[in-house]
Amino acid sequence: MSRIAYVNGRYLPHANAAVHIEDRGYQFADGVYEVCEVRDGRLIDEAGHLGRLRRSLGELKIRQPIADSALRVVLRETVRRNRVRDGIVYLQVTRGVAKRDHFFPPESVKPALVVTARPADRAKNEVGALAGIKVITVPENRWPRVDIKTIGLLPNVLVKQQAREAGAKEAWYVGADGHVTEGGSTNAWIVTQEGIIRTRPATGGILSGITRATVLRMARDLQMRFDETPFTVDEAKGAREAFNTAATAIVTPVIAIDGAPVGDGKPGPVALELRRRFHEFAEASDG
Ligand code: PDD
Repeated sequence: MSRIAYVNGRYLPHANAAVHIEDRGYQFADGVYEVCEVRDGRLIDEAGHLGRLRRSLGELKIRQPIADSALRVVLRETVRRNRVRDGIVYLQVTRGVAKRDHFFPPESVKPALVVTARPADRAKNEVGALAGIKVITVPENRWPRVDIKTIGLLPNVLVKQQAREAGAKEAWYVGADGHVTEGGSTNAWIVTQEGIIRTRPATGGILSGITRATVLRMARDLQMRFDETPFTVDEAKGAREAFNTAATAIVTPVIAIDGAPVGDGKPGPVALELRRRFHEFAEASDG
């Protein structure tokens, strides 16, 4: 079956869907994106992702190209046309196409919207996640506005590749103060020896993950102890458990940090329970 992409109002064959060479996303990474999980044909935490999209656009002073209601239709239609039951839907908004000039283009330039959807092998992902992943740590080298979900992901691309070359799946950034900020494409968590779930507050230095927010709500509802405070690499290495969250990872146990096992070197029970029960607590809306 051929894939379909939505590009500025049209559904096109994915293989030859294109944007102009002077799209500001291409030239300046002048845009934002969202990734939403699709599960059993439903969009997971869609409202959270659309809320964050609005915020990211606002921070960059990019107009939202179409209203939320229309965007929801496009997301669903892209999922439907690609027959995605389990996978992801990706959306990107850039400031539009204009002659290359750092200044914002004139008001008449419309922001550009691209939406794609891609199936995932849920069973395979489940096996991978349940085995746990290894992470490396790397110095934080990103701009301070990582709270905005921009498409400017070069530092993330470089550390993810560095992780892969080191036999790991994720890189955790470590700030100058020695605290872990987040992963290259995930939020970072530990479970302390006292059994407290810990992640740093989303008040700066990280992307405020939608999955993170759902996991915090779940921890509260399940009366698990949690704490939004930063942790160091040593605290993580000495923790009982560690895990990552993202729309693409749900909750994924971390079994080693820089080659040192976390806990007994196996996925921990808290992370596994949070993963198993995640979709009970996430919002799911029909795709
Ligand atoms: N990444 N931190 C970073 C740097 C991220 O890129 C992501 C998500 C997260 C988790 O956010 P959420 O729970 O809302 O997915 C945290 C997406 C999935 C990506 O770039 O593919």
